[in-house]
Amino acid sequence: MFDLALSRGTPAGAAPAAQDALLAQVHELAAALGRAIDAKDSHTMAHSEEVAEVSKLLAAGLGLGPAQAQAVHVAGHLHDIGKIGVPDAVLGKPGRLTAEEWTRMQAHPAMGADILAPLSCLSAMGVVAMVRAHHERFDGRGYPDGLAGAAIPLGARIIAVADSLSAMLQRRPYRPAMGFEAARKEIVACAGSQFDPAVVAVFLRHEERLRRLAATFREAGPGRRPAVS
Ligand SMILES: [Fe+2]
Ligand SMILES: [Fe+2]
Repeated sequence: MFDLALSRGTPAGAAPAAQDALLAQVHELAAALGRAIDAKDSHTMAHSEEVAEVSKLLAAGLGLGPAQAQAVHVAGHLHDIGKIGVPDAVLGKPGRLTAEEWTRMQAHPAMGADILAPLSCLSAMGVVAMVRAHHERFDGRGYPDGLAGAAIPLGARIIAVADSLSAMLQRRPYRPAMGFEAARKEIVACAGSQFDPAVVAVFLRHEERLRRLAATFREAGPGRRPAVS
């Protein structure tokens, strides 16, 4: 289950205002690092930002409090930071990946967690665990650890849905962008296998808000970002 112990990541006895200021700085750092990874791939227009926004909306819809939803939001910005260790030729390859290339690609969640591990406040917020687990599947057939169901951090189960939505709505070297309706159908079809059905249920409950949010990212145009948090 979701574990958030912000106090472990802040100086003992820190005033709430100081904690808020620290969290705001953590968010700004996460947004900047997310942009750095998006800049590696011309096809992934503001992908990390979109995943962060969709994740926050889903987290709130699941009933997580503001601090927990913000931790999921921060993890959304950072989820693909491990791709910094994947060669550009693999990231941007238009055709099928070879077995060796796929192995390198699949290393990115663990590599991301490893990159972020020195930031103790991100560990305390559960962000490092969420980044490591964002490609786990609800049925246990994901990676890197083959976790299933509730063993996957809730934030990672949320990011998995947000990540897939954003990826499907993006143009890729090997296919054009999908429409929201087609992406929605795919997410519903994968409830219980790839995705946590509880997260998919919240997705459907907030479908119209998500459709509008996704549209603002598309309207912003390539390489531009809508005015979001
Ligand atoms: Fe990823
Ligand atoms: Fe943000």
